[in-house]
Amino acid sequence: MAKKLVIVGQGYVGLPLAEAAAANGYQVSGYEVNGAVCDILNSGRSHIGDVSDEDVQRMRGLGYVATSEPACIGEADVVVICVPTPLSEDGGPDLRAVKAAASTISDWLIRDALVVLESTTYPGTTEDVVLPILERSGLGHGTGFLLAFSPERVDPGNPIFGIRNTPKLVGGVTEEATRRAALFYGDFVETVVSLKGAKEAETAKLLENTYRHVNIALVNEMARFCHDLGIDIWEVIRGASTKPFGFHAFKPGPGVGGHCIPIDPNYLSFQVRKTLGYQFRFVELAQEINNSMPAYVAQRLQDMLNDHSRALRGSRVLLLGVTYKPDIADQRESPAVPLARILLAKGAELSYQDPYVASWSVDGEAFASVDDVDVAAGGADAVVLLQDHSVYALERLASESALFFDTRGVAPEGRAIRL
Ligand SMILES: NC(=O)c1ccc[n+]([C@@H]2O[C@H](COP(=O)([O-])OP(=O)(O)OC[C@H]3O[C@@H](n4cnc5c(N)ncnc54)[C@H](O)[C@@H]3O)[C@@H](O)[C@H]2O)c1
Repeated sequence: MAKKLVIVGQGYVGLPLAEAAAANGYQVSGYEVNGAVCDILNSGRSHIGDVSDEDVQRMRGLGYVATSEPACIGEADVVVICVPTPLSEDGGPDLRAVKAAASTISDWLIRDALVVLESTTYPGTTEDVVLPILERSGLGHGTGFLLAFSPERVDPGNPIFGIRNTPKLVGGVTEEATRRAALFYGDFVETVVSLKGAKEAETAKLLENTYRHVNIALVNEMARFCHDLGIDIWEVIRGASTKPFGFHAFKPGPGVGGHCIPIDPNYLSFQVRKTLGYQFRFVELAQEINNSMPAYVAQRLQDMLNDHSRALRGSRVLLLGVTYKPDIADQRESPAVPLARILLAKGAELSYQDPYVASWSVDGEAFASVDDVDVAAGGADAVVLLQDHSVYALERLASESALFFDTRGVAPEGRAIRL
């Protein structure tokens, strides 16, 4: 008989997982509090880019169902938690969704089930927060159920690495929990790596994202002083990247976006400060530098307009690409918003174009994506490339624009001015 899997939360992380498990023989239910999302999925449509409508229809054909009724948990061999962990006002993770999910699971948990937390969070959450809630079920860990942490490594829009070929880390509350979790993921992931425990798996995820955050901050800081010194940072990176060992290239840009990079390292610095009383200085510095990039881009734009004898106030500025990554629709934490906020406050006449975002709002002010990017670029006083969606004909756009500011270092040199 097919094993029953319930995935709690059917978003960017939970839905691709449901798809991979369903394709490999699991009887999958997606427990999702948002009824509208359940309706979309049950009608055979997808609400996220990495899973197509056809994928959802195939899943439906394999018995997949999305539901806001938690009773499915009462039949599950495995329950995986993929709910959001946004930042709370005090800078730590907001664990309300994780706690609510654990609480629902504890109401329905059956003997011998495996529960896995995938949501990104601070070290200790699995054992100190989720475990005690699950024990309210009356079942004990090791005797009644098993609990592990396995960080999600989804890279939305990545055409090469998906769930099956991205190695999966697992760390259980006990060795037995690690072993069960490794067996579960081994059914549909090529490489599963078992770690010593849940805390190590939680911290490994945070190290991965902190590493990116810090290295992006390093090149962002270098971009600023290289500009002042008259050195081309993009050439510097191109040169350094030819070293076949000991160097991994990161690119400067208008700031960091997405759910992970601007947020996850905070979980670690929050935990270090709260538990140990001292700072995780690398993270805090990286944050300061990366968060200052939208203001730096605004300043550079203002200087460029000044060189053309124009003030930013009253200038028509067209932003290209407002998502946080190229070629996807996700706008979470995109630096386009803080940049737009600064430009609007300085009196710029703002418009934007994004093939993935039909309408966009900044602090309640709504904008519609311009229809014809070439016409809009030609009519603007300045065009700022924020996201290098591959549909943009950069050479043409740069040549049509009075001023083309390329914050991604991708437009051919010549008419474009790079960050
Ligand atoms: N998106 C990514 O690229 C990515 C990558 C790695 C890790 N993560 C982590 O994975 C976790 C989930 O992220 P996501 O991007 O899938 O979020 P998401 O917002 O896309 O999806 C989460 C879903 O969970 C649902 N939900 C919330 N509370 C619930 C509850 N109590 N019971 C059932 N459903 C509930 C929401 O309605 C939503 O549909 C987060 O901790 C995130 O940090 C995300």
